[in-house]
Amino acid sequence: MALVEIDELHLTMTSYDGAAHVLAGVSLSLERGEIWGLVGETGCGKSLTGLTLSRLVASPPARYLSGAVRFDGRDLLAADEETMRDLRGRRIGMIFQDPTTNLNPAFRVGTQMIDVALHAGRVDPSILGLAAGASRGARRRAARDLAVSMLDRVGIVDAARRIDDYPHQFSGGMRQRVLIAMALIGRPDLIIADEPTTALDVSVQAQILALLHRLAAEDGLAILLITHNLGVVAQIASHVAVMYAGAVVEAGDVRAVLKSPRHPYTQALIAALPRADVKRGALAGLPGVVPDLLTPPPGCRFLPRCPIGAADCARAAPGLAPVDTGQRVACFRAERAA
Ligand SMILES: Nc1ncnc2c1ncn2[C@@H]1O[C@H](COP(=O)(O)OP(=O)(O)OP(=O)(O)O)[C@@H](O)[C@H]1O
Ligand SMILES: [Mg+2]
Repeated sequence: MALVEIDELHLTMTSYDGAAHVLAGVSLSLERGEIWGLVGETGCGKSLTGLTLSRLVASPPARYLSGAVRFDGRDLLAADEETMRDLRGRRIGMIFQDPTTNLNPAFRVGTQMIDVALHAGRVDPSILGLAAGASRGARRRAARDLAVSMLDRVGIVDAARRIDDYPHQFSGGMRQRVLIAMALIGRPDLIIADEPTTALDVSVQAQILALLHRLAAEDGLAILLITHNLGVVAQIASHVAVMYAGAVVEAGDVRAVLKSPRHPYTQALIAALPRADVKRGALAGLPGVVPDLLTPPPGCRFLPRCPIGAADCARAAPGLAPVDTGQRVACFRAERAA
């Protein structure tokens, strides 16, 4: 059984203009030890997909129509809020793009990390290395020790002293390390990192990616790395899923997908690569724009921009199916595996 399984998830988001069908059959599965890059143009549903895994999508405006989200066999769409809180504090860690929105500037880094550690310790006392029923003081000391060791692990020099600093006393890259340390406190099985390096300069970005890569290898973590940047994916991911307009259109081993992309959208993304980062908005060689999800085109949502599409592609939305190079592709006209 895969650690994470998203199966044909459909979700609408309601705004003044109406209900937009923003996730239209997302399927994705992650095993322990795998780093999945989740890529695609802005607005295609990457962040929403990540957020559904910790059920942080407010509903309303969101409405789950159908499909399933399972974590270690547990149905997350049916789980109660307390179960979700415990999972988020312990087995699912989240890292977002902008550390300043996750760290409260008014509190010392240590105070915030100790809170997280105490919560994780309530869910699972072994995280603090204490027997159930340990005194409040013992728990606080153990939580602080754990926080210091995590800061040390992510490369914060002189962690025992720095833990008492405020967030503004850390650089952007250091703050991102602090967030990674925080996400690791509960010894999670899964880390969801949504554009964790977009706000950082290139050399710091490389350090953070190397750190995530090392942690995944050491702990057997699964990582869902959401990014616009295929270069980042090529650098650290073992697998990649490409999203277009609310669905995964190609997924599989990173080398297979980058070397022999079979979905015309993936091919266009890769063709745009030599210009370093894939730009938001228009893609080189790919006419048109992402469809309005209030009134998506019928059938395959990529059809209006597709160089190989045919009239019958409008009849139904293609599902993911394996091709000869091993990855899975949602395209009626991609060559299928024999
Ligand atoms: N709270 C919300 N209310 C209404 N619509 C939303 C909300 N959050 C997301 N959406 C819509 O859902 C779609 C998917 O959004 P999502 O944030 O997942 O995209 P993304 O792929 O992460 O984009 P980006 O690369 O810009 O971060 C978009 O069309 C967005 O406008
Ligand atoms: Mg996003």
